[in-house]
Amino acid sequence: MTTFYHFTNARVLFLWVLVSAVCVWGRPATFVQDFRVAWADSHITQIDQGRAIQLKLDQNSGCGFASKAKYMFGRVSMKIKLVPGDSAGTVTAFYLNSDTDNVRDELDFEFLGNRTGQPYTVQTNVFAHGKGDREQRVNLWFDPSADFHTYSIMWNHRHIVFYVDDFPIRVYKNNERRGVPYPKMQAMGVYSTLWEADDWATRGGLEKIDWSKAPFYAYYKDFDIEGCAVPGPANCASNPRNWWEGAEYQALNAIEARRYRWVRMNHVIYDYCRDKSRYPLTPPECLAGI
Ligand SMILES: *[C@@H]1O[C@H](CO)[C@@H](O)[C@H](O)[C@H]1NC(C)=O
Repeated sequence: MTTFYHFTNARVLFLWVLVSAVCVWGRPATFVQDFRVAWADSHITQIDQGRAIQLKLDQNSGCGFASKAKYMFGRVSMKIKLVPGDSAGTVTAFYLNSDTDNVRDELDFEFLGNRTGQPYTVQTNVFAHGKGDREQRVNLWFDPSADFHTYSIMWNHRHIVFYVDDFPIRVYKNNERRGVPYPKMQAMGVYSTLWEADDWATRGGLEKIDWSKAPFYAYYKDFDIEGCAVPGPANCASNPRNWWEGAEYQALNAIEARRYRWVRMNHVIYDYCRDKSRYPLTPPECLAGI
């Protein structure tokens, strides 16, 4: 009897390990395992044996990279060290995108540079079924060019959370039952770019990029994608046992909720939800308590 049980347990364990290995993407060690250069090869340099990369922006070009696969649900995170000093007019972005023109789903982190000593702004946006225009802006409470910080996007059936280190800075809940579109039908790729956007990025385009400070550099490391790769097993994305669908990821925990309130109270500098000139009628996803 005992032997039989052991055998069964071992077999179940083996199957479980096999299934998880096939379904769920692990933690990649190097850039090339999961990513490819998508824009300007000459401006992206692998460092530390491919465990980190450097992105360069100069007057010739910006640059960017993309994941090789697309993913359905999960968590994507990376450590980024942003352009230091006078970074006004530069934008570093980290985002998920379905790449489907009219019905695009997209989750954006955009880091807007600033003049020396002035705070970086993080803009987030959520596109669902082709509609975006949901910008929020937060001033960072530390200098993101002094050291690496972790930026992550958590995406499950219940909500999407943008994190700066362990601080949630934005939550977009699944409010489909109230008619609010939610990204859940399309896989998304992971992208990052460094480019010049001095027509809008810093103080609405008033602050121009200072090319005498070029080239500008941003650094990335500790790439971590955990999600259902597409193409992959069809049932992976709907598997309630994926860790990111677990009970503890269905809502912010008490510590996260406190940190989120602190960010909302002290660091939000723009929120489309409160922009009456753009939205005379409050968008439904912004209504209190939702
Ligand atoms: C840059 O600094 C100014 C002054 O502190 C601030 O108003 C602005 O929000 C900062 N960020 C951007 C992207 O302009």
